[in-house]
Amino acid sequence: MIVTGGAGFLGSHVVGQLLDLGYEVAVIDNLHSGTLGNLYEGVDFYESDISSVSLDNIFESVKPDIVIHLAAQISVQASMHDPVFDARINVEGSLNIIDLCTRYRVGKMIYASSGGAIYGEPEYLPCDEAHPIRPLSNYGVSKFAVENYLFVQNISHGLDYTVLRFGNIYGPRQDPRGEAGVIAIFSQAMLEGRGVTINGDGEQERDFIYVQDAANAVLKGIHGKCGESYNIGIGKGYSINYIYSLLRDQIDYNLDVIYGPAKPGEVFRIYLDNSKAISELEWSPNVSIEEGIKRTVEWFRG
Ligand SMILES: NC(=O)c1ccc[n+]([C@@H]2O[C@H](COP(=O)([O-])OP(=O)(O)OC[C@H]3O[C@@H](n4cnc5c(N)ncnc54)[C@H](O)[C@@H]3O)[C@@H](O)[C@H]2O)c1
Repeated sequence: MIVTGGAGFLGSHVVGQLLDLGYEVAVIDNLHSGTLGNLYEGVDFYESDISSVSLDNIFESVKPDIVIHLAAQISVQASMHDPVFDARINVEGSLNIIDLCTRYRVGKMIYASSGGAIYGEPEYLPCDEAHPIRPLSNYGVSKFAVENYLFVQNISHGLDYTVLRFGNIYGPRQDPRGEAGVIAIFSQAMLEGRGVTINGDGEQERDFIYVQDAANAVLKGIHGKCGESYNIGIGKGYSINYIYSLLRDQIDYNLDVIYGPAKPGEVFRIYLDNSKAISELEWSPNVSIEEGIKRTVEWFRG
């Protein structure tokens, strides 16, 4: 089995759960945002870009039956500033992985899409998989483009794949230096006694899913139906103001929050209907937002 992006936040939790179940795992990651410290002992690590021609040799020697494709540039803002950079990694790089999966006759490819970015501002909530796709960011466009390429590759070459559309994943090992991952960014800043800025009025809502639940959905996705897409979230929206208040209480933080301008490309309110994943993947989220934030703060405390 190959996990791309296995040195990253979600990827490392996925690899941990796969190893617990006895899978042999090879990781491909260029360490753009992932770290060596996130890698588990016992994995074969290939430091490589997902666009590289050298991936042929890796697929040749690993001969994976399953490929979990998580490597990506994950910043909505980076995609707005430089759509070509975003497309190079998220579209071209993913196409390379799709092509390799086809040529090496991989039995299943799992693809991490974004339920938070592809639907745009929802017409109804919770947002189900049949909702129109109208992304507001280039990141959302590139994430959905790959879903379409997978669809075509299945029709033309029979590639078996399953798509997981994640909400906002949070938890231990999330990079607090990035622009994505408000819980990680706030946790780190508040624990260091620094000020935090909420973009917009803080009433925007997201579907926050704890990383171990998200990783477990990837494992369940291995047995997902070919060509299906599944929303992976808790099915409820929590505002950034509420998240901030949970963190403030947990950390005993007493600086005033600063409100700044809303960021372009971000939807205002979204949460996902997760009933398809619950019934068809036999998956369910187990960690509440309160418990997840507690565990995340404990991890950031070290
Ligand atoms: N974190 C979220 O809230 C969220 C939500 C929806 C979807 N996703 C998707 O889940 C996946 C994992 O995201 P994450 O939050 O763990 O992010 P992450 O940045 O921690 O992980 C991405 C990994 O991919 C690697 N990578 C980046 N560019 C690469 C390249 N060109 N070649 C090889 N490796 C490369 C990085 O080094 C990193 O280890 C991504 O596909 C992301 O789009 C994440």
